[in-house]
This record gives sequence, structure tokens and C-alpha cells, in this order.
Amino acid sequence: MVRQVPIAGVGMTPFGKSPERTARELFGDAASEAIADAGIEPAAVEEVFYGNFMGEFAEGQGHQGPMAAEAAGVTAPATRFDSACASSGAAVRFGARAVARGDADVALVGGAERMTNLSTADGTSALAAAADALWEVRAGVTFPGAYSLMANRYFHEYGGGREELAHVAVKNHENAVENELAQFQRSIEVEDVLEAPTVCSPFGLYDCSPMSDGASAAVLVSEEYAEEHGLETPVAITGTGQGSDGLALHDRASMVETPAARRAGERAFADAGIEPADVDVAEVHDCFTIAEVLALESLGFYEPGEGLAAAREGETTADGELPVNLSGGLKAKGHPVGATGCAQISEMTKLLRGDHVNSDAVADAEVGVTHNAGGTVASCVVTVLEVMG
Ligand code: COA
Repeated sequence: MVRQVPIAGVGMTPFGKSPERTARELFGDAASEAIADAGIEPAAVEEVFYGNFMGEFAEGQGHQGPMAAEAAGVTAPATRFDSACASSGAAVRFGARAVARGDADVALVGGAERMTNLSTADGTSALAAAADALWEVRAGVTFPGAYSLMANRYFHEYGGGREELAHVAVKNHENAVENELAQFQRSIEVEDVLEAPTVCSPFGLYDCSPMSDGASAAVLVSEEYAEEHGLETPVAITGTGQGSDGLALHDRASMVETPAARRAGERAFADAGIEPADVDVAEVHDCFTIAEVLALESLGFYEPGEGLAAAREGETTADGELPVNLSGGLKAKGHPVGATGCAQISEMTKLLRGDHVNSDAVADAEVGVTHNAGGTVASCVVTVLEVMG
């Protein structure tokens, strides 16, 4: 990016079950909160970047750009981004780049998803559209199924098993206990994970993120605008990267590497002028426990095969060397897919500026990274956030 993009405000609805509320209502709430947090008027928004994945399936709603602008109470040009579970990560990226380029001084970014109005079976079908329809979906592959293939292959190549993965779920549930926005605010033990009903071997219930409703938003501004209007912007986006990979798992060179994330991370780190070792705290896309492990390895925090032990060894817990998913992650905070990427931005912004319930765990942190993946990481957006000097 040519220059840093200050985050003037963030907002997020509680994640969980609210099937009676539409995605547009949820986004209206998150956007209003972000706009109020920024201390601007809605009329100041010059462009809207909105992420959603399954609105046509869940609500029969397409043409969601103007819908999102209307819900936010603004009349600015508005575009919807779909990159499956990375939809609002992509929206944040394009909003940040528009501001960095000087195309807009104030961008509203975010996303929403309504999922629990569907049965689990229908929600699973809707999510499967993010996989390869010609081969994977016809063969009956669902997302728990696809990630369980990746987990089994990981165990085959590097060793380890369900017990190591369970520590990822235990850590993320623990982190969510005090987070009032999280879907599950309760701690669990390794035994709970191992004894839970099987979803798709090796995964039990606690290896999976849940179906969730929710929305997230952020107001990004130019440095000049922030200065002219006296906005408080302690945190800025300083780097962004995006990567793609084959849509289907069977077309990949490896099922235990996620090059889309590696490329996104390398670009984001280069953009910000940092190295993985500079990162103090991370929010990564743990849609399934194995996904957190693959994310940490693809971002260069661990060598291939070494990420599995990180949670068990306490390296990624709240008091560890690199706290990961202090929000509770997708596992415990919830995963309304189109809202997740910008929710990571909202949570990370609060963690870094000191008003998150878990901020004390990272009181001296200056650099945070978010990793937001689509499908089986066929797409990925990585964002670097830094405390402004
Ligand atoms: N973790 C912890 N608890 C969960 C949970 C999860 N992932 N999912 C559901 N629960 C709890 C519910 O809160 C409920 O508890 P309660 O009885 O105390 O109210 C109970 O389990 C049953 O919930 P229900 O919604 O009926 O579960 P389900 O069996 O229909 O669905 C999954 C569970 C894991 C299959 C479903 O959440 C799922 O498909 N998750 C994956 C979503 C996904 O693929 N996302 C995209 C990622 S790429």
C-alpha cells in the first residue's frame, strides 16, 4: 500500500443465533456502531464495500451493494464482495486500497450473514457452493468433510492427532469467555472435545465453527481526513495481501499447505514492511481446528508440521508468545461467514487500541495480523494493523 489507512471506527453485532433478523438489519446495526465510533456523520461516507456470501440462498437477496448502503443510512456508491468466507476480508482490502489510492477519504467496509434461519442441512448445502461444484460437491464433499480430509492428511504426513487439535478449540473457547459478542462464552476441556459427537472424522462438534448470524463494519479514512476532522485513529491498516489457489482440493499440489494464504501473507507483510517475527498478535481463520494450524504455518509463524503443537505448548494462548484468536476465533466467537473478515478487523482494532475485554493480554502489542480464508483456502486475505506512532 502506498500509505497507511487509519481505522476511525469499528462495530460488530453479537454473533450467534438471531434468525428473525435479516442480514440488512444486522449490518445496519454494525455500520451505525462503526460510524458513531468514528465520530462522523453517515453523509461523510464516500463509498461502501460490503461482504456477503450466501444471501441469495438464505434470504433470496441479491444486489446487495445498495442494500448495504441503505441499511447503513448512506447514499454512497456501494459494491458487494463475494469470496466465500473471506468476503468481508476482501471488502476491507478493497476499501483500504481505495482510501490509500486517494479515491475516497471515507470508506465504510464490512459484511453480514444470516445462516441460522436455515436448517443445518440447508446451511451446509449453501456453504458447499464455495467448493468446486463440478467435482467436489457432486462427490458429496461438504466443508466439514473437506477440512477433515486436510486434517487426516496432516496427521499422515506429520503425525499427531485429535488430542493436539483439541487444544486449539480449548484455547479459543477460553478466549471467548469474557467476550460478550461471542456465540459461546464458556470454557471447555480437552475431554469435552474428544468426547463430543463426531461430525466428520477426525472432527467432533468442538472442532467446528458453528452456524451463526451477525455483522461487522469499520470506517476507514485517509490520514488527511482524520487530521482535518480531529478524529482519533490509534490503529491503522498498513498492509494488505490476497492470494488464490485451485478451487478444488484434488487440484492442489498438497492438501496440507495453503499457498493462497502464504502468498497473501507475504504480500501483506511486504506491503507493511514487516516480517512474521514482528507480529505481536493474530486473528486467524479457524473455521475448523486444523485451519488454525495451517494458517499459522502459512503465515510463517511455524514451519510445516510444527503448528499443531503450538496451542498445546501454550505458545498461542493469551499469555503465550504469540496470542492467537483472543476474540475466541471463529470457533467460539462464531462464524457468520460474510461478516467474519471484518469482524477480525473490528476485534483486532479494539485489542490494539486497548478497549477489548482481552486487551490486557497484549498491552504492549504494536502489530496485529488478520487471516481470512475462503473455501478450503482457495482464497485468502491477510491484513496488517499497526498502532500509529
Ligand atoms: N461448537 C460448539 N457447540 C456447537 C457448535 C459448535 N460448532 N455447533 C452447535 N453447537 C451446539 C449448539 O449451541 C447446540 O447446543 P444447545 O443444545 O445447548 O443449544 C447444540 O450444539 C446443537 O446445535 P445444532 O445447531 O443442532 O447442531 P448441528 O449438529 O445441527 O450442527 C455442526 C453442528 C458442527 C454440524 C454445524 O454447526 C456446522 O455445520 N458447522 C460448520 C459450519 C461451516 O462449515 N462453516 C464454514 C466453514 S468453511
